[in-house]
Amino acid sequence: MAEMYSRNRLTLPGFAVAAYVALGGLALAQAAEPVSPKLTPKLLDLLRKEMLSINDASQEILAALVTGDDARVAELAQQVHDSFILRQSMTPEDKVDLMAAVPEGFVQQDRAFHEISAALAQAARDGDRARQQEQFSRMTEACSACHAQYATDRFPDFAE
Ligand code: HEC
Repeated sequence: MAEMYSRNRLTLPGFAVAAYVALGGLALAQAAEPVSPKLTPKLLDLLRKEMLSINDASQEILAALVTGDDARVAELAQQVHDSFILRQSMTPEDKVDLMAAVPEGFVQQDRAFHEISAALAQAARDGDRARQQEQFSRMTEACSACHAQYATDRFPDFAE
C-alpha cells in the first residue's frame, strides 16, 4: 500500500508535467501572431487590397463552381494566383521590408495558398469537377488557417 502510494506520488506529477509540456508545445505551434502591426503602411494597404480582391474572387469562384462554369473558375483562380502580393505590386524595397516584417510561417502559408489557386485553375482547365471541389475546399481552409494564426487582431473570433 505504501509502495503504491509512493508510486502514485511519482507518476501523477510526472504525467502532469508531460501533459503541460505537450499542451504548451501545441499552444506554441499555433500561437496567434498578428502580422498587420508589423507591416509598413504601404504593405498593409497592399495586403488589405489583395484580401478584398481574393474575397470577391473566391465568392465568384463558388458561383462558377456550382454552375459548372469551368472556364470562369479557371480564369478567376488564375487571377487569384497572379495577384500574389508577395510577387506583384511590390518594389524590390517593399519585398525586403515584407520579408523582414513577417514570420517565415506567414510566407509559407501565403505560398501554399497561391499554389492551391494554381491547382484549382489547372483542375478547371482540365474540366475535372471533383478536383475543382477538392481544391476549392483546400483554398477556404487555407484562408481560415492563415486568419486563425496571423489575423486574430482583425478576426477576434479566431482568438478563442
Ligand atoms: C497568408 C495569410 C492569408 C491568407 C492565405 C488569406 N488571408 Fe485574408 N487576411 C490575412 C490577414 C493578415 C488579414 C488582416 C489584414 C488587416 O489587418 O486588415 C486578412 C484580412 C482579410 C479580409 C479583411 C480585409 C479588410 O481589410 O477588410 C478578408 C475579407 C480576407 N482576409 C479574406 C480572405 C479570403 C477569402 C482568403 C482565401 C480565399 C484569405 N483571406 C486568405 C491573411 C491571409
